[in-house]
Amino acid sequence: MAVTRTFSIIKPDATRRNLTGAITKMLEDAGLRVVASRRIHMSRDQAEGFYAVHKERPFFNDLCTFMTSGPVVVQVLEGEDAVKRNREVMGATNPADAAEGTIRKSYAESIEANSVHGSDSDENAKIEIDFFFEPDEIVG
Ligand code: CMP
Repeated sequence: MAVTRTFSIIKPDATRRNLTGAITKMLEDAGLRVVASRRIHMSRDQAEGFYAVHKERPFFNDLCTFMTSGPVVVQVLEGEDAVKRNREVMGATNPADAAEGTIRKSYAESIEANSVHGSDSDENAKIEIDFFFEPDEIVG
């Protein structure tokens, strides 16, 4: 299995409850390595740009408001089959559907305030990593 990278966000509901360390430990315990990390307060422009793929969805406006409501931690994660591994440890988007032991089952408050984001494909991982990080900020 190839070592690849994925993009992760620890969302405002999680930073508000001081869960950055607990969530990062779950990522690391799943075999993922944090090779870049930055705590930021996303601007409206950044949120709308990052989630542009969802701009026609009914939840887009609320999602952007939520993602700019407090600090987030943007991360690049590296590991074997990183996109898939991260999605496994995150659990289903809706915490009501998330499996035991996943981040969202453990911590998510709702489908919107669901504690973490993770890329859904290698192609989107590259786009999302490039949206927030310069190559020299990623140290593997
Ligand atoms: P995320 O992986 O960050 O990608 C888009 C986000 O939209 C998703 O996680 C959810 O937090 C949020 N969202 C809010 N409402 C919905 C919905 N009804 N269906 C899917 N995603 C939603």
